[in-house]
Amino acid sequence: MSDIPTLYGGVTNRRVRPSDLQRAKDRGERWAMLTSYDMLTAGIFEQAGIPVLLVGDSAGNNVLGHATTVPVTVEELLPLVRAVVRSTTRPMVVADLPFGSYQASPEQALATAARFLQSGGAHAVKLEGGRRVTAQVELLVSAGVPVMGHVGLTPQSELVMGLKVQGRGQDAAHSLIEDALALQDAGAFAVVLEAVPADLAERVTKELVVPTIGIGAGVGCDAQVLVWTDMAGLTPGAPLTFVKRYADLRGVLAEATREYAEDVREGRFPGPEHSFR
Ligand code: KIV
Repeated sequence: MSDIPTLYGGVTNRRVRPSDLQRAKDRGERWAMLTSYDMLTAGIFEQAGIPVLLVGDSAGNNVLGHATTVPVTVEELLPLVRAVVRSTTRPMVVADLPFGSYQASPEQALATAARFLQSGGAHAVKLEGGRRVTAQVELLVSAGVPVMGHVGLTPQSELVMGLKVQGRGQDAAHSLIEDALALQDAGAFAVVLEAVPADLAERVTKELVVPTIGIGAGVGCDAQVLVWTDMAGLTPGAPLTFVKRYADLRGVLAEATREYAEDVREGRFPGPEHSFR
């Protein structure tokens, strides 16, 4: 376990908590978050020392066959959250509240979060939006639910804002800072900054006491998050600007699959060593 970051230092027999992440920010220690939607990747990411796993609504366009995150439902995400929780022991597992499951009212947000915590076993929830969801964040936090905020590009609002960099220009930058501060004031323990100019993200990170987690927000954030299929090169097509591919899983899997099919066609598999006597 030598590759476990010091954030895991004393944390061997319990889950990572918001206070661990706060202490990491206070001592200037960066950490990496990844999405996970299943047992196998969750176990690998825990072994590799990832302290926070996000069961994101990005499951929509990475697992469930939707084109965007908008159609994703609580019913679809719950089994994925359960799988990630069951197959890990130390990372904090954050459940994304899907579109339409929290915007209507703080009470709706609490009912949805309760399902993810009670039935899913999640340790925190994430929701999108700044000032427009602070009433939700306040009620959740007062009820004992750790909440991760998410500002900048918020994919659930893609039909309104598109998929473009947010916070460019003085007014937009000011508004984004206000949103992040409002989430912190409402009790969020961390804030995701998505598709935000690097200098603005760095400014937000300095202004906030709680950790920021960047995706397409430059190196000045306290932590980083990537969708795992992007990070590992399973996603088809050219990677987005802010994605670094650390592997070519798509290529490896495609090649293995071709070889397997060819072996079957040629009668090379199963061999005697794969057969019972
Ligand atoms: O759903 C998701 O994967 C996310 C991350 C991109 C932050 O919200």
